[in-house]
Amino acid sequence: MKFDDFYGRKENYFSTQQSDGMQAMIEKYNVKPSKALDIGAGEGRNSIYLSKLGFNVVAVEPSIEGCNKINESAEKLNLDIDIQNKDFLSLEINEKFDFILASTSLDHMEDEYLQEAIKKIKDSLNIGGYIYIVVFTEKDPGFVRDIKNASECALFIKHYFKENELKSYFNDFEIIYYNEYMKEDTTHGKPHYHGKAKIFARKIKE
Ligand SMILES: C[S@@+](CC[C@H](N)C(=O)[O-])C[C@H]1O[C@@H](n2cnc3c(N)ncnc32)[C@H](O)[C@@H]1O
Repeated sequence: MKFDDFYGRKENYFSTQQSDGMQAMIEKYNVKPSKALDIGAGEGRNSIYLSKLGFNVVAVEPSIEGCNKINESAEKLNLDIDIQNKDFLSLEINEKFDFILASTSLDHMEDEYLQEAIKKIKDSLNIGGYIYIVVFTEKDPGFVRDIKNASECALFIKHYFKENELKSYFNDFEIIYYNEYMKEDTTHGKPHYHGKAKIFARKIKE
């Protein structure tokens, strides 16, 4: 598993800080602790943050080294996180969620898998529940293989999102926030840029 090499290092490869945009949305819209799913949780920075807030978190992550890191952090902080070492479509959902998060993980999915994943996200969310999703877009330097300005993980990406593509998948949701932007990333490897799309939205009907 390609992320094992990064996550197997002693220090966390990605930032240990939660996604700043997610924290802002949770605070601004007063999202109460509930049942949350972190898709492609990596080393767990967002799962840890949500668990500290009192969310009941399921973290699904195919990299065993990522899962080990989440487990170590959770044990140190005495947090109870349900860590599932598998890919998202293999996760059995017994109870729906109130908050589903995917921070730059949907772009690691091939097209057909991605379509099923979007459907599963919608089906796995309670009415009134929220999604917070960040993906890489075709504006990302990795899309045109601009190696000089792209992340060292750019070759792992399977699907760069087109303009408004992420938003279009959730047009039956109440879209509270949507933005597409460029941002410098200094958290891993050499400083590089990302083209990103971010959505925070609420399921309003089945
Ligand atoms: C760029 S990392 C982001 C990690 C984490 N979400 C964060 O923001 O720190 C992308 C993650 O998605 C995971 N991933 C890739 N394909 C996946 C799949 N089919 N189901 C669940 N996670 C997946 C990778 O293993 C990797 O940890």
